[in-house]
Amino acid sequence: MDRVRELQDKIIKLKKEKGITILAHSYQSKEILEVADYTGDSYALSVSATKAPHDTILMCGVHFMAETVKLLSPHKKVILANPEAGCNMANQIEPEFVEYFKKHNPGYTVVCYINTTAATKTVCDVCVTSSSAVRIVERIENDNILFLPDRNLGAYVQSKVKSKNIQLFQGCCPIHAVVDVNDVKKARELHKDALLLVHPECDPKVVEMADYVGSTSGIMEYARKSDAKEFIIGTELNIAEVLAFEMPEKNFYLLSQKLICPNMRITSLVDVYKAMTGEGGLVIEMDEDTIKKARRCIDEMIRLGG
Ligand code: 13P
Ligand code: SF4
Repeated sequence: MDRVRELQDKIIKLKKEKGITILAHSYQSKEILEVADYTGDSYALSVSATKAPHDTILMCGVHFMAETVKLLSPHKKVILANPEAGCNMANQIEPEFVEYFKKHNPGYTVVCYINTTAATKTVCDVCVTSSSAVRIVERIENDNILFLPDRNLGAYVQSKVKSKNIQLFQGCCPIHAVVDVNDVKKARELHKDALLLVHPECDPKVVEMADYVGSTSGIMEYARKSDAKEFIIGTELNIAEVLAFEMPEKNFYLLSQKLICPNMRITSLVDVYKAMTGEGGLVIEMDEDTIKKARRCIDEMIRLGG
């Protein structure tokens, strides 16, 4: 038996023995996705977390995702598989900025992308994910919105919800934001019949050129259902790899070699195993006040997004 399969079997055995539910974001490697109980985009994972049958949840993804699980299930033990896995966008904004903005702009509803820390969420009004942002902003009663931290997802929402005054914080995902129009032109030149599927964290000029714009799960679903045979994938490399493995009859090309998120890549199968045995991983600790305040933001997301 190969080493990967051997380790996967040990993990599956440990899950049963210790009562651990494994959640894995779609950007995780194939061998991790195979041992997970739930996989998907940020929104799907946060909903799955509430349904997880066990008292311990292991998150294979980045820090804010594990925090979100803790907020939704505060009495559960939540472990991030690799303690170093942060999100560079989530760390671009501090709660102090939000407080400053609110003080000087009373009457605004502050909408934060789920890619934010729990501390930032404590001072925001409602959270969104890439798959629910447009729907939620449309449903917010207030017409004055501050959207943070991702200017690109915010611009995408602006383009879809034209009736509202949406101010954008100028943060971005350093992985998606650097893909440009030239990358699209080159990819289209090489793969003339391919459809371009992109994540809304990409630059608006790239988003405008796409055949489909959506979350990681949205992109995967689109590729599965489409009759087309070739796709250019404008999000993290792993999505293209997983799709290519799942559908060998179709061709998937990565829009740009820049689309590799080191934070999503650092979690290995060994990390998953060690986090389960207690030799590794990071147990998410959060005080009651943070849970209470940040949770409001997530509850609003579920209420408005459902
Ligand atoms: P999704 O919300 O589409 O899962 O994306 C999360 C993310 O970090 C994208 O870079
Ligand atoms: Fe964060 Fe960007 Fe990596 Fe997603 S791809 S986890 S937004 S740094």
